[in-house]
Amino acid sequence: MVYIQSSTQSGSTASAGLLSKIFRIKSVDRIIGDDKKAREHLKRSLKAPDLVFMGIGAVIGAGIFATIGSAAAGDIGRPGAGPALMLSFVLTAIGCGFSAMCYAEFAAMVPIAGSAYTYSYATLGELIAWIIGWDLIVEYAIGNVAVAISWSSYFCSLMEGFNLKIPLWLATDYRTALAKDPGIISGAPHFLGIPIVFNLPAVAIVALLTYLIAIGIKESVRVNEAMVVIKLLVLGFFCSIGIFYVRPENFSPLAPNGFSGILTGAAIVFFAYIGFDAVSTLAEETENPARDLPIGIIGTLVVCTIIYIVVTAIFVGLIPFSKLVSMPANDKAEPLAYALKYIGTLPDAGAFAKKFMNYAAGFVAFGAVIASTAVLLVFQIGQPRILFSMSRDGLLPKIFSSIHPTFRTPFFATIVTGVFVAVFSAFMSIDEMVDLCNIGTLFAFVLVCAGILVLRIKEPDRKRPFKAPGGIATPILGILSCLFLMQGLPLITWIRFAVWLIVGMCVYFAYGYHNSRLDPKNASNGNGDLPKIDNADHF
Ligand code: ALA
Repeated sequence: MVYIQSSTQSGSTASAGLLSKIFRIKSVDRIIGDDKKAREHLKRSLKAPDLVFMGIGAVIGAGIFATIGSAAAGDIGRPGAGPALMLSFVLTAIGCGFSAMCYAEFAAMVPIAGSAYTYSYATLGELIAWIIGWDLIVEYAIGNVAVAISWSSYFCSLMEGFNLKIPLWLATDYRTALAKDPGIISGAPHFLGIPIVFNLPAVAIVALLTYLIAIGIKESVRVNEAMVVIKLLVLGFFCSIGIFYVRPENFSPLAPNGFSGILTGAAIVFFAYIGFDAVSTLAEETENPARDLPIGIIGTLVVCTIIYIVVTAIFVGLIPFSKLVSMPANDKAEPLAYALKYIGTLPDAGAFAKKFMNYAAGFVAFGAVIASTAVLLVFQIGQPRILFSMSRDGLLPKIFSSIHPTFRTPFFATIVTGVFVAVFSAFMSIDEMVDLCNIGTLFAFVLVCAGILVLRIKEPDRKRPFKAPGGIATPILGILSCLFLMQGLPLITWIRFAVWLIVGMCVYFAYGYHNSRLDPKNASNGNGDLPKIDNADHF
């Protein structure tokens, strides 16, 4: 009896110890202290319009240039939204709006550059922070896999405009090739009987950007600005031509697959919105974070939503739904270029229009390449910074927060990210990667909203420079709308994501749990002596 009692007692002491460890919190003061050491050079110079501009840089990319074809037309496994894809964008924007408010509240509360990972470490404890950090890999790195694949597709069509044809076995993955045209596989060179089929341009762009980021490009902000301008110009170009060919009859029926088509479309085009949360990582460079961050985040969402709805309205207004459905897989991946080429095939298109539309499609392909490069750059820079923070906290091996002595960048984390993204983009299909990125990001949003909800209840008096309007209804609606979008994603995506999270938990309990810097036994591991990073941490 005595034995049972003491073993129960020691069991409950152990579980209390476990709980107190996995929910240990990194104080805001300590985060700011760590952060100061790493960011002495950062100036508070950004205002709300700058944030919106940078937000557009991170948001508009492959989503609008590559996914609206499948979202409107549907595919074997899911119904298309048809012309109602415009409503899918509105639905998704509303859902994102709730999460955006919660991000803004968090970012203003913990006003340092970082991400949902840092916010949750300060408020919800280590395990949740770890889960978010692990999950952000799905948003940033897997998202970039999808963007790189889309980049490759547009790049190939751009090259075709210059009569340079990249063989399909070198510009697609095995399974897409199998679905598209088994001839691609039989025509590919074989090594030991295995066909060589992979996406070389996707690998090449990731390798190039990884190289530039690893050696510490200093012009990234300027380059990003130029790329934002180009992508807006190209979308404007598409709209100003397309508008003359919109036919009202193409809007009917508006929702050929009813609400389920709209919902599925919303779950797909969610990808197009990913990136607005990256604005929150600029908190420490913002002049007045409490005011500018919410404006920056919500402003990005509003501006992008308007752009998306206009572009989508013109796209679906140009092409009858029956034509959308029968679009070849190649064209589905380049919907805007396809739409312009389609205009050239209309019976009333004159000889000039026929010729001009091919050039116009080439110009759009160019815009898509630029837009995707901008998104790739933002996320390829962001991912190593998250790994860096996690490693600095002891949750990942130290090497992830090591700084290259010459380039002053988190070199190892940058290279690991590059290799991960490049390998996946060589062999994976874009639709699978978009779905996986979407579920991962939606899950991160759910956790951020849940975090805000918990804090509102647990710590109502905590100082909140920005408080999301709507009381606890906002985080609750944020959670519900994200879950709603998540259930529009296929079962296989849920399974893949669950496996990823399980692997993450194993990594945490095998490594981070024992090596966390918050554990007093690891406190002397030199956390306070971080090397100064010159331009390494410009998210
Ligand atoms: N929102 C980003 C894009 O559409 C991920 O490329």
